[in-house]
Amino acid sequence: MRQLSPAGPQPDLAALYAYPDGLDRAWVRANMIESADGAAEVDGLSAGLSGPGDRDVFGVLRALADVILVGAGTARDEHYRPARVRPAWAGLRAGRPAAPPIAVLTARLDLDVASPLLTGPAPDARTIVITCGTCATGRREAAAAHADVIVAGERQVDLAAAVAALAQRGHRRILAEGGPRLLGQLTEAGLIDELCVTISPVLAGGPAGRIIQGPAGGAGRARLDLAHVLAGDSYLFCRYLVQRG
Ligand SMILES: NC(=O)c1ccc[n+]([C@@H]2O[C@H](COP(=O)([O-])OP(=O)(O)OC[C@H]3O[C@@H](n4cnc5c(N)ncnc54)[C@H](OP(=O)(O)O)[C@@H]3O)[C@@H](O)[C@H]2O)c1
Repeated sequence: MRQLSPAGPQPDLAALYAYPDGLDRAWVRANMIESADGAAEVDGLSAGLSGPGDRDVFGVLRALADVILVGAGTARDEHYRPARVRPAWAGLRAGRPAAPPIAVLTARLDLDVASPLLTGPAPDARTIVITCGTCATGRREAAAAHADVIVAGERQVDLAAAVAALAQRGHRRILAEGGPRLLGQLTEAGLIDELCVTISPVLAGGPAGRIIQGPAGGAGRARLDLAHVLAGDSYLFCRYLVQRG
């Protein structure tokens, strides 16, 4: 064990969170925040757990990513809009669109197609809707007016096929921002390569769920290696890599 120095130098977040060099496959990074007692939300939103340091990490992770993958539940609850990258991180986007597109996973496609999430992005970062064969054709067509629509799977989206479809478009650096049900499936399918988790200095109590919710059985159970832990304003910022093999 080592004690974290409360007044260490400012960390180079872009370097600490850099994706592996020369990726020849998709790399799925999950980024979540939880209270000190393990709650994924407070009053239905993650905002009550966040703070300035967490917003810095959230921002740099978005700037580093090729695409942001999110479940429709989170997109609806958290009123997702097109991503914007802070000017300070703009250099991380060299050779890529100014901001990564958002990819929303949905079976029902119960999204407001006139919302900024679909109508707002720049043409080179159109929102991507990933759905399945059971999704009503009319909804798919309405979404396709503004977004790129991918069909991956029949009754449910096949997560491995969805990740492969994103990688095929050149989106190998995938940032999964939740929610817990999407992460549960990614975990179960063995698709998560790393977990960035912010531990918020909040005691939430109550019935809130954890940051990953999946079926019983633990099909995707894995051990993690700690890549780093940062501390600031009583928050902890952990980066874990999933052990392979
Ligand atoms: N603590 C954090 O860092 C954090 C991060 C994100 C979210 N949250 C919180 O988590 C809550 C929302 O998360 P959630 O787990 O309920 O929802 P979620 O995982 O964001 O979304 C679930 C929805 O995603 C779609 N979906 C998921 N898997 C699918 C599949 N295999 N095929 C097709 N569609 C699929 C479905 O959308 P349709 O219903 O449209 O078919 C499903 O209803 C909110 O309270 C939010 O604030 C916390």
